[in-house]
Amino acid sequence: PIRVIVDTDPGVDDAVALLYLAAQRDRVEIVSVGSVHGNLAARPAAENALRILEVGGLGAVPVAVGAELPLDRSALSGGGFVHGDDGLSGAAGPAASARPVDEHAAVRLARLCRENPGELSILALGPLTNLALALHLEPALPRLVRSVIWMGGAFHRPGNITAHSEANAAHDAQAADQVLSAGFPLMIVPVDVTLQVWAGAPWWETVAAAPGVRARAMTAWARRYREAYAVYEGKGELGTVMHDPLAAVLLLEPDLAEYEEHPVVVEQAGSRTRGATLIDRRGYTTEVDPGPNRPAVRVVTEVDVPAVLTRIQAAL
Ligand code: BDR
Ligand code: CA
Repeated sequence: PIRVIVDTDPGVDDAVALLYLAAQRDRVEIVSVGSVHGNLAARPAAENALRILEVGGLGAVPVAVGAELPLDRSALSGGGFVHGDDGLSGAAGPAASARPVDEHAAVRLARLCRENPGELSILALGPLTNLALALHLEPALPRLVRSVIWMGGAFHRPGNITAHSEANAAHDAQAADQVLSAGFPLMIVPVDVTLQVWAGAPWWETVAAAPGVRARAMTAWARRYREAYAVYEGKGELGTVMHDPLAAVLLLEPDLAEYEEHPVVVEQAGSRTRGATLIDRRGYTTEVDPGPNRPAVRVVTEVDVPAVLTRIQAAL
């Protein structure tokens, strides 16, 4: 099976992604989970990861608390307005029986990749702070991992946290830029495609009517998120998009998508564009601007939406 470290800020769609992976035990092994600030603070995010893994029957997977602040230590906005203040629609429920491990998520990530060279994939479903910190601890990290898949960025569509930037990129623009320039074998799953993966009200009603603990928990955890998406995506129905779950599906089935390869930079300082992800499309450079000077990464451009929705629903 694919062996993966999941770095995450659960988060309703992070929960769907983790439950999707938990249902594919013959194909994927979650080696470790790290939490990161983003939708909520890193510590309650780790508590949520433990709850979700327990529901998924993976209560023994270690969860490490990660970065509490972005690299530049700027103030955070959080994602309470879509995910609820507890990250799970106000329905997180009692704590899981397991506790977080006593090792920082970034330290753990660097260590596990060093101990398993070429074997581990990283599925990053939040800001890239832990990955950037791990890169500082272990500069050889890009050559030690099998692959990195990151849900983040907005290229041809508006952002979601601001008009021009996507939340995971904007919540730590500096970390995102460091990771995207480091030479990782990396695939970006941007909102350009995740916003296409619309699970409408009937999709969710099917999940709500399904037997089993995953479906029951996920139905409760998604309530606030569905209400928010009815407004934010303007569809007027209690559905959601599937940001992080799409990245999880593409970890297992990359052939469900099409890609382009480009160097990507992340805007650091714009008064309105901080966190914007930018591609240099000139095809030439000048003395005035020698270009991004960094390796290309894969950017997902198209996905098989019905197939992805079917996979996620079946897993729940
Ligand atoms: C990303 O931001 C978070 O709110 C979601 O969990 C997802 O990772 C989408 O922009
Ligand atoms: Ca997330």
